[in-house]
Amino acid sequence: MNSITNKPVAVACDHGGLQLAGAILAHLEENNIPAEFYGTHTAESCDYPDFAVQVTDAVTSGKSELGILVCGTGIGMSIAANKVRGIRAAVCGDTFSAEMTRRHNNANVLCLGQRVTGEGLALKIADIFLESPFEGGRHATRVEKLEK
Ligand code: RB5
Repeated sequence: MNSITNKPVAVACDHGGLQLAGAILAHLEENNIPAEFYGTHTAESCDYPDFAVQVTDAVTSGKSELGILVCGTGIGMSIAANKVRGIRAAVCGDTFSAEMTRRHNNANVLCLGQRVTGEGLALKIADIFLESPFEGGRHATRVEKLEK
């Protein structure tokens, strides 16, 4: 697979997403996609907003164009990430949504739930998210309205 960005994919998780985040990092490495991992590094209970902000900082600063956040459901991470101006985070549990949220919403953060989505499907969702371009046009007008 190829990513639409040459910048490192920013990845973070809480304890509920630790295993899937590890699988995603290994998968990106196998595919020569650069990644930056911001933790958490252990199974010790932690607070997902503390890790969501690492990825949103990476994206809003321009260090990364795309990020992936993993928690138990993906929902806490998405709520946290979407509080940040310029972040468009989408929880995806299927490949169609992953493609459409890139093509239509220009989503820049993918949120996954380790306790919801099996690893094989989650890796495919990540691939499609990273490969799919934003279509622009009428969708750009709508995305611009999100930022106002
Ligand atoms: C942690 O138990 C869990 O609440 C967290 O990973 C996430 O699912 C929150 O949305």
